[in-house]
Amino acid sequence: MLVTGGLGFVGSHVCVALAEAGYDIVALDNLANARLSVLARLREIAGRRISFVRADVRDGRALAQVFRRRPVAAVLHFAGLKAVHESVAQPLEYYDTNVGGTLTLLRAMRQHDVRRLVFSSSCTVYGAPESLPLTETHPLRPANPYGRTKMIAEGLIADCAAAWPELKYALLRYFNPVGAHPSGRIGEDPLGVPNNLFPYIAQVAVGRRAKLNVWGGDYDTQDGTGVRDYIHVMDLAAGHVAALARLESQPESFTVNLGTGRGYSVLEVVKTFERVCGRPIPYEIRERRAGDLAQSWADATLAERLLGWRARYGLEDMCRDAWRWQSLNPDGYPERPVSAAETRRRRSRRRS
Ligand code: UFG
Repeated sequence: MLVTGGLGFVGSHVCVALAEAGYDIVALDNLANARLSVLARLREIAGRRISFVRADVRDGRALAQVFRRRPVAAVLHFAGLKAVHESVAQPLEYYDTNVGGTLTLLRAMRQHDVRRLVFSSSCTVYGAPESLPLTETHPLRPANPYGRTKMIAEGLIADCAAAWPELKYALLRYFNPVGAHPSGRIGEDPLGVPNNLFPYIAQVAVGRRAKLNVWGGDYDTQDGTGVRDYIHVMDLAAGHVAALARLESQPESFTVNLGTGRGYSVLEVVKTFERVCGRPIPYEIRERRAGDLAQSWADATLAERLLGWRARYGLEDMCRDAWRWQSLNPDGYPERPVSAAETRRRRSRRRS
């Protein structure tokens, strides 16, 4: 298997699940938002060799080299940019990486006759829910450039499969992935101030931040705070293995939500996290964050029907594993990501 973005948050957990299921893995990552130290930890948890190629998914030559050197039966494509607010400020980077990267990958797959693709999509393709729970047939009206890049990449994959029928794909629309591997060795380590709720709460709990800003207390929800369908990253990883197994046994393409089918409010998450970590999480209710939805959760029944998969972990498990990761690694992974330019500079300094 080729796993693009294999050292990122979701990609690394999927590598573990794939290794446990007996697959050989080549992880490809440009380390723009991932750390090389993930690799050693992955190998330690997975207990088998995981090959690594440092390359950008937009680099067609690097992809061709991977496909030429070893047999690749399927690609799991995670490499991409994922911050909604950043996508508003930097649309070109988002289209280039998310759409351009998928295009380059598809071209290389076609050239080397690699016929299975599992794509990391997002519930953000739906935009504001017209009805809940969100089913896969809900109209696609993403409200930001990030969501549009995911929607376009989905369409690109489907168009390629129409022209090249041997290509079979799974589009997996994630809800809110959280938690960490139960070992506490790999987890989510965002750069700078976390945008997302779980890493922010975890950093408050561990003492890196003073308090949580709760964005909005006046939504039309049970306690006024936003409601989301949080899904444990280990459940998400298992969903990928199930999707791959389905593509292998019944070669037809499909699109499914990966969520738990139930939503929790920000305050419910805060209370559960406090209970699990045994520390108070100070918070302050602030103005709503621009672009946020009141609530979103999945209809997860299609995934169960197609894949025989359903989420096993509840909110307490998600908080417990996020806390274990954060408390064992208070500052995240030991090193910061190093840009490709910096690596070149270091190499030439060593040579001279
Ligand atoms: N929240 C806070 N304080 C914070 C961070 C978040 O109160 O510091 C709240 C948000 O307002 C929201 C909930 O916590 O109600 C979840 O927010 P996240 O930022 O964790 O997640 P979002 O649902 O906003 O965004 C996630 C992904 C996006 C994806 C989107 C799809 O991060 O990549 O789901 O709906 F596009």
